[in-house]
Amino acid sequence: MSPPYSLLFLIGYRGSGKSIVARLLAERLGWKWCDADVVLEARHGRNVRQIFADEGEAGFRDKEALLLEELCKLQHHVIATGGGVILRPENRQRLRDSGQVVWLTADAQTLWRRLEEDATTGERRPVLTVGGLTEIEELLRVREPWYRACAHKMVNTTGRSAADVVDAIFAILPERGAWAP
Ligand code: S3P
Repeated sequence: MSPPYSLLFLIGYRGSGKSIVARLLAERLGWKWCDADVVLEARHGRNVRQIFADEGEAGFRDKEALLLEELCKLQHHVIATGGGVILRPENRQRLRDSGQVVWLTADAQTLWRRLEEDATTGERRPVLTVGGLTEIEELLRVREPWYRACAHKMVNTTGRSAADVVDAIFAILPERGAWAP
C-alpha cells in the first residue's frame, strides 16, 4: 500500500472485536464501515454457517475472496474482515496493497469468552475443526504467521474496551497526510 489510502481493514481471529471497532473507527474518521461476512450473508441469502453446511469451507472461501476483491475498490471505508480471510495468499496480498491493515489480537481465553458471550455464535459461526478453546488455540498457532505477514500494524485488545482499542489504533496509524482526502 502506498499513500494516499482511504481503506482501513481490520483482520484477526473471531472474537477479536473487528466489527464493533470498525464501526467506532469509521465514526471517528467520518467514513463508512462494513462487516464483510454480513455483506456476504445478505448477498447469498444464507448465514455463514449455512453456507459452510451447503458448500463446505471451500465454497465459502471462494465467495469470501470474490467479495474481498470488490470491497477493495471502495473508498473511505473501514472493513471488518472474516477471521479466515488471511488463509489465501492472494487475499493477504490484496489487503496489503489496498489499504492499511490492522491486526486485532487477544489471547485464546479472551477470544473464547467473547465468542461464548456473543448470542449469535451458535447460529452463525460454523465449527472449524474440533470446536471450543482447543480449536482457537490450534488455529491461532497456524494462523498467526499469516495475520502477521498481512498486517501493517497490530493492536492487542485483551483487557481493553472497544473505545480504548480505537484510541490505540489512532495512535499508531500513519500521519493524516498519508490518507486520501
Ligand atoms: C471464520 C471467521 C468468521 C467467518 C467464518 C470463518 C474463520 O468471521 O468468516 O465463520 O475462519 O475464522 P468472524 O471473524 O467475523 O467471526
